[in-house]
Amino acid sequence: MYNLLKGKRGIIFGALDENSIAWKTAERVHAEGGTFVLTNAPIAMRMGQIKELADKTGSEIIPADATNLEDLENLVAKSMEILGGKIDFVLHSIGMSVNVRKGRHYTDQNYDFTSKGWDVSAVSFHKVMQTLYKQDAMSEWGSIVALTYMAAQRTFPDYNDMADNKAYLESIARSFGYFFGKEKKVRVNTISQSPTPTTAGQGVKGFGGFIAYADKMSPLGNATAQDCADYTVSLFSDLTKKVTMQNLFHDGGFSNTGVSQEVIEEFSGE
Ligand SMILES: NC(=O)c1ccc[n+]([C@@H]2O[C@H](COP(=O)([O-])OP(=O)(O)OC[C@H]3O[C@@H](n4cnc5c(N)ncnc54)[C@H](O)[C@@H]3O)[C@@H](O)[C@H]2O)c1
Repeated sequence: MYNLLKGKRGIIFGALDENSIAWKTAERVHAEGGTFVLTNAPIAMRMGQIKELADKTGSEIIPADATNLEDLENLVAKSMEILGGKIDFVLHSIGMSVNVRKGRHYTDQNYDFTSKGWDVSAVSFHKVMQTLYKQDAMSEWGSIVALTYMAAQRTFPDYNDMADNKAYLESIARSFGYFFGKEKKVRVNTISQSPTPTTAGQGVKGFGGFIAYADKMSPLGNATAQDCADYTVSLFSDLTKKVTMQNLFHDGGFSNTGVSQEVIEEFSGE
């Protein structure tokens, strides 16, 4: 390890179990010398194993529903108290579509479900940043990262309304990134990650085929949750200070590949 995050303090959203991208990131940040508060929705606390991660990394847990402003205000204020100063890094690793969960097709959405999923998956990112901004909680040259998927740019039929939520999320990163950059010298980016076998990922219909296809299409193969943790650490570090308002593809080259030899072979029967 390189001590890249020595002395840095952060908040990590979304570690549900050991497969979660946020879980791997928390372990990696810890190894790089960063300290942080772990948070997740109160309901996920009961279902998940976050306590185990907290023990392992010497972290405290503060429950917060990322759609609830009061919870977020409490989270940010308490995190600064616990960590002993302003926040240097934040990971937003949150996503959920009620339409996907309830098996509603994209062309047959229940709009209450749509609103809920949008609030959880996209607007929560704005709420997190607005809360940090208003409390002047971020250190200069701090770094905020949210996770997204390429369905924001290209259609993947089973990704359903999460595609729209991710497009909105990426836009928030640019818009808030402008103000956070200007006023507080804080950077805001999204990482567009390969399909990854996690609870949220596996909720997508046909995930097995989907992940295998992406792997065959990517010259470097799919990026794993562990790879994503490494990349996120680089964005939290001082080595990427001028990277902001970007959607950064972290997908083994998938997004720029038209077709791969392996996929051609599947179809040509050679
Ligand atoms: N798994 C993939 O294939 C993949 C690919 C690209 C991007 N992503 C994104 O990565 C992020 C993390 O997902 P993951 O794959 O690690 O799955 P995960 O299921 O482990 O994590 C999703 C997290 O969101 C949390 N969450 C849901 N509602 C919440 C709320 N109201 N308040 C606070 N937290 C809430 C869950 O409790 C959970 O911890 C998501 O944004 C997801 O869309 C995942």
